[in-house]
Formats: sequence, structure tokens, C-alpha cells
Amino acid sequence: MAVESCVGVSCLGGVGGEWPRSMRVGLLDSTLREGEQTPGVSFTVEQKLEIARLLDEIGVAMIEAGHPNVAPDVHEAVKRIIGLKREGVIRRAEIVAHSRAVKTDIDVAASLEPDRVAVFYGVSDIHLRYKHRKTREEALSVIAEMVEYARSYGVKVRFTAEDATRADYGFLVEAVRTARDAGADRVSIADTVGIATPYAMRRLFERLRRDVPGVEFDVHAHNDLGLAVANSLAAAEGGATIIHVTVGGLGERAGIAPLEQVAVALKRHYGLDVVDLRGVVRLARLVERYSGVPIPPTAPVVGENVFTHKAGVHVAGVLANPETYEAYPPEWVGRTRDYTIDKYTGRKALRARLERLGVRVSDEELDAILRRVKERSEARWLRDEDLLEIAEEVTGRALRLRPPEHVEALVTVRCDSNIYTTAVARRLSLIPGVEEVIEVTGENDILLRVRARNPVELNQVIEAIRSVRGVRSTYTMLVLRRLASSGDGAAPAARERGREGKA
Ligand code: COA
Ligand code: ZN
Repeated sequence: MAVESCVGVSCLGGVGGEWPRSMRVGLLDSTLREGEQTPGVSFTVEQKLEIARLLDEIGVAMIEAGHPNVAPDVHEAVKRIIGLKREGVIRRAEIVAHSRAVKTDIDVAASLEPDRVAVFYGVSDIHLRYKHRKTREEALSVIAEMVEYARSYGVKVRFTAEDATRADYGFLVEAVRTARDAGADRVSIADTVGIATPYAMRRLFERLRRDVPGVEFDVHAHNDLGLAVANSLAAAEGGATIIHVTVGGLGERAGIAPLEQVAVALKRHYGLDVVDLRGVVRLARLVERYSGVPIPPTAPVVGENVFTHKAGVHVAGVLANPETYEAYPPEWVGRTRDYTIDKYTGRKALRARLERLGVRVSDEELDAILRRVKERSEARWLRDEDLLEIAEEVTGRALRLRPPEHVEALVTVRCDSNIYTTAVARRLSLIPGVEEVIEVTGENDILLRVRARNPVELNQVIEAIRSVRGVRSTYTMLVLRRLASSGDGAAPAARERGREGKA
């Protein structure tokens, strides 16, 4: 479909140009580490195991399981997630344990034998001066020593250059080289306060790749200015091969790039399938429940509203071809499109909705229904029930399914084979509450329509049916709703009109 046809260009008539064809990228999910740094969020160990399993199932390349030296339960969770990997329950994802550039943290992280230890250290002057109280030279020796120390445990090591986007570029290059030479095979470039722009980000990664070959780059983009996704994609265009994400974009302050948005954007713009997209909604709902952080209705990909169209012009376009108003088909993420009916509705949307409800109306009726819909400006949107009510008022036809006012049941009866069905039917018809008796073909012999004032009375009627001679067995189905037919519970409006007619 045409969505595919503009993958890889900006879709601005092609003026955005092509992305680097060699681009390859995977996701590191940090919901369990960065995500738990969201104020108010604390996952239980069991919840973390469940989230980790689901992350592996959808296919993230790496799971950052936590910083084990933070608290006993974090340690326990990281240990058990590593255990799941060892048992083969987590099959693909590399498990990463987080650590400051201090021996005590590294000892705790590395002794759990994760696939990788991630050692972070601030590299901007502001971090060096106020947080680490180190000169640049001292910082380089800390990085070298701690990366080497972690490597001595035999695990893979990632070095995270914290606050890299505010660091002096020349010093950043030195820090990355130092980490690489000490044995780190990956370096994460962190936009710790979310102040990069996409253009700067792409240039930064292009230059780092040129200036420090022999090491792979991650991007860790914070969302303080709402640019985390854009900056992550730009970094990947510049050569980053791992993008850090969290489910729903959880994390410190405004969080980091949301997994679901990055994954869909990678497919939409670059044709890259980094995870099984059909799992992201389930994952987002799970994390919403466990974190207590609600998914906003407008959240891309997973928000309640994002495949629901409203304005008449939009719905008319979508009915003709969904691509008119959709960036990508909802089926990608296992969702379906819909549209609301309210004062913004147009004729095409209204007719389509009525037809979906099995209601055919004339052009005049449609106009009259639409007029009434638009008068209901106080309603945030009209439910199908409300719309059918309006349609009944306009057309005078009974259109709604109605719950019965009494307890109603359909009872099928099987008769003894040595007895005339008709004789049984006649006896059954005498029982109070049996409204209709129908002899039928098939496995059963008689169908009864029974009405009672309440369930107790219904039971009594059924008992009476069972005690009739010749009845072998019965099967009862309660009527939940039914379409009223003329003469029996017709729409109030229709009844009104009937009365008027007779008057
Ligand atoms: N490498 C080495 N040391 C670091 C560091 C790093 N990347 N980042 C901060 N530090 C040092 C600071 O300089 C400070 O040291 P100081 O006490 O000598 O001044 C200390 O770590 C941080 O202060 P504080 O949090 O008060 O220390 P603490 O020993 O009580 O606790 C943690 C340390 C890590 C256990 C605790 O802060 C914690 O549980 N943090 C949660 C995880 C976290 O902060 N992650 C950040 C991820 S980006
Ligand atoms: Zn972060």
C-alpha cells in the first residue's frame, strides 16, 4: 500500500531526502531501570519479571534490568531476570545491569553475571565540577580504571557518557576513546537533560563514528523538550545502533523516548521492524497498571484516541481511504479504527454508522437525524444507543434492542418418544406464564416462550413444565434483549404516533 511507498523519505514530496541505507538499529528497554526512576513508581519483583518476559517476547535487543546496588529488591529483580535468561525463559534479550563508576557498584552488578554491565560517568564540565569534583584528566582515569575493572569480571561493558550533549566535543571524544581502549564495546551517548536538537544529534553521531571507530553507539535521549523520539531517530540516522526507550516514555522528569513511538517510527520511516509491534499495546497497558502512570488518550500508538476520527470531513476521507488521515494503519499495532458521532459529524459518517447498526434511512431522514445530532451539543459524543433513539424518533420505526421488562425465557422441551407431542403441547399451553407454544423440528420437540415477574416465578413455571407428563427434559435460555416488533413493545415514539393516528 501507499504507506510503504513513502517509507524512507520525509514524505514532503521527497525533499527530505533518503535515510542512510545501511541503518541498522535495535532497542534497549530501560523501563525497569530508568522507568522506575519515575517519581511515584515502584515495581514489585514479580511485576518486573513479567515485564521483562514480555519485552523479550516482542523482541527488544537489550533489557536494562536495574542498578543492583540501589536497593535489596532491585538487586533481587536483576538477579532473577538474569536467572530467567540463564533458564532460557528470556531467550534473546541481552540483560544489562547498571552501575556507577565505583568498585562497590561494579562488584555487586558484575557478580550477578549479567550479559553486560553499564558503567556511567558524567562528562560535561558541569557534572565534573559539581557532581564528581574531578578535573577532566582525573575523569579519564576513573573511566579507564572502572571500565577495565568491570571487564575483569569477563562481562561485556557499556560505558555511558552522561550529559554528553553538554560536554566539550574534544573531551567527549577522549572519554569515548578511553572507554573503548579500556574494553567497552559500546558507548551510550546520553542527552541527559534533553537539550539536543535532531540536526545536532545526527551530526554528533556521524562525527563520533568517524572520530572513534571500533566501538558501537547507543543513544539515550531525555524528553524535557519533547524531542526524545526525534533525537533518537536522528542519532540512528547518524549511526547509533541501539536506542534507549521505556514503555510509555517513563523516566526521570519528562522521561525518555517511548518504546512504542520509536518502534512505529522506525518501521514507518525506515522500514525497520525492531520489535513485534502487535505486542506494544499489551505491554503499555501492563506497564500503565503496574506503574500507576495513566496513558493519556492522545499518546501516540497506545492512546485511547489515536485511531478514532471525529470531524465529518476526516471521517468521510477515512471511509473512502484510511490513508487520507492516518500516518500508519492501526492493524500494525493490533488496533482498529473508529469514529465518533457528535456535532462535528457529517452525512457520510452518519450514514455509514447507521448502516453499521443495520439501519437504512432515506436522505430526508438522514438530514433530520443529523440536525438532531448537531443540536445535542451538550453530549461529548453520542453512543450507538443515543443515535438509535434519535433515529427512532425521526423514522417512527423500532430500531433498538430492548431488555425485556419482565423475566423472559425460551424453553426447549424434549418429549418421551412414546407420547404425542401435540398432547404435551396442549398441556403446556395451560400453564400460567407460558405465553407461546411452538412445535419444532430437530432434536427438541417443543419451544416455549415463558414470561414471569421475577426469577423465582420463572423457576416455578419451569418446574411446572417439567412436571407435565410426557416431558423428558428441558433447556432454558434467558432473553437478554430483543428487537421489539410492531404491536409488542414498539418504540415509544411509534406508539405515540399510533395513538395520535387513531385519535
Ligand atoms: N560514578 C561514580 N560516582 C558517582 C556517579 C558515577 N557515575 N554519579 C554520582 N556519583 C557519586 C556522587 O559523586 C556522590 O558521591 P559523594 O557521596 O562522594 O559525593 C554519590 O555518588 C551520590 O550521592 P548519594 O546518592 O548521596 O550517594 P549514596 O552513596 O547515598 O547512594 C546510590 C548512591 C547510587 C546508591 C543512590 O544514589 C541511589 O540509590 N541512586 C539511584 C540510582 C541512580 O541514582 N541512578 C542514576 C542513573 S542516571
Ligand atoms: Zn536517563
